Amino acid sequence: MRSFHNLLVTGGAGFIGSNFIRYVFGQTGYDGRIINLDALTYAGNPASLDDIAQAVGGRYVFVHGDIRDTALLADVFERYAVDAVCHFAAESHVDRSILAPDDFVQTNVVGTCNLLQAARARGDKLTLFHHISTDEVFGSLGPDGFFSETTPYCPHSPYSASKAASDHFVRAFHDTYGLPVTLTNCSNNYGPYQFPEKLIPLMILNALEGKPLPVYGQGLNVRDWLYVEDHCSAIWTVMTQAAVGSTYCIGGRSELPNIEVVRRICALVDRLAPPLPGGQARETLITHVPDRPGHDARYAIDCSRLEQDFGWKQTVDAAAGFEKTVRWYLEHSAWIETVRSGEYRSWLERNYAHR
Ligand code: NAD
Ligand code: DAU
Repeated sequence: MRSFHNLLVTGGAGFIGSNFIRYVFGQTGYDGRIINLDALTYAGNPASLDDIAQAVGGRYVFVHGDIRDTALLADVFERYAVDAVCHFAAESHVDRSILAPDDFVQTNVVGTCNLLQAARARGDKLTLFHHISTDEVFGSLGPDGFFSETTPYCPHSPYSASKAASDHFVRAFHDTYGLPVTLTNCSNNYGPYQFPEKLIPLMILNALEGKPLPVYGQGLNVRDWLYVEDHCSAIWTVMTQAAVGSTYCIGGRSELPNIEVVRRICALVDRLAPPLPGGQARETLITHVPDRPGHDARYAIDCSRLEQDFGWKQTVDAAAGFEKTVRWYLEHSAWIETVRSGEYRSWLERNYAHR
């Protein structure tokens, strides 16, 4: 088992990063320190980890900083004697990348290169650089087949192109400079603390409030859904056990067309939340809107390498995970208000009047 003492997590105030920090402190027995470096864009909320900060004291450090800032990175790596990195920080929303690709290049590509350079400067004091990536780098599947570790890259959106570029740089730093890297490419995550621009939290909150539920096109595009905590356990497994230079695909074996996801969310909100006026079924709020340009038809991951090499298994299936997630959003109105009060609301108003 690989071990480390000063783990730098980038983007730890975002959705998966905050769940990962919570998971590592709560469920792995890790006894070192985590340094959470986050620029706090519209998607980052440090309050997501307030309880963890209290529980672990000095073993959790938050640094408000940007991976585009090379001087800051050099300082953070030395000051905190960083010996491992788990790199989540990214612009993560496909629709935003279509409207404005520049930030995706700057953070996802240039920022990742900066981080790789800072990690490399630590020499043999650095045990591991783990890079978090996505199944979107592989492009789009037809009705059959799965993405795996050997699938060639074929990104379509500016987001997935920027993630593909960052993956290539991570592998190049391993092949060229011997940086000890591992990578994971994961399917669609859902669960607590996800920013309500992504399909599942957006549909939960709109359904709750009786607002239209915007489904792109016919809603027949298929995604492979994974509960976020299962993603976190897979990342930890790879970070502590996988060979340097290796890549693993992570998925939930839970393929669903978007329209089916939205219908399930509607049924759950109808069951768990107060009824709409007149008892209107939430499903009637579904509104088909123009499709996302270049919309990938289907993603599905074959994660058998991860299962076979380490015995990793997902623990929360879609039925249980969707219900846990709806319940979480119903119980966390303060968190929702905080993240909705910032730039997000004005961005939505500028770009998506139909929401
Ligand atoms: P998110 O948008 O919720 O969080 C991103 C975090 O990164 C935010 O806290 C933000 O403030 C921070 N950040 C953005 N730019 C930064 C910068 N320049 N410097 C420092 N911090 C910055 O994203 P997420 O959904 O949690 O995704 C995390 C990672 O996982 C991303 O790399 C994404 O590509 C990858 N991923 C996401 C999914 C998914 O379904 N959400 C699936 C597979 C892979
Ligand atoms: O596959 C992994 C990827 O999953 C991650 O790399 C990304 O960071 C993450 O954002 C997610 O990308 P998607 O584009 O698949 O997620 P999103 O929630 O934006 O959309 C899911 C599906 O739902 C997609 O087919 C588009 C559709 N959709 C989305 C929104 C926001 C709608 O029909 N209506 C919507 O309002």
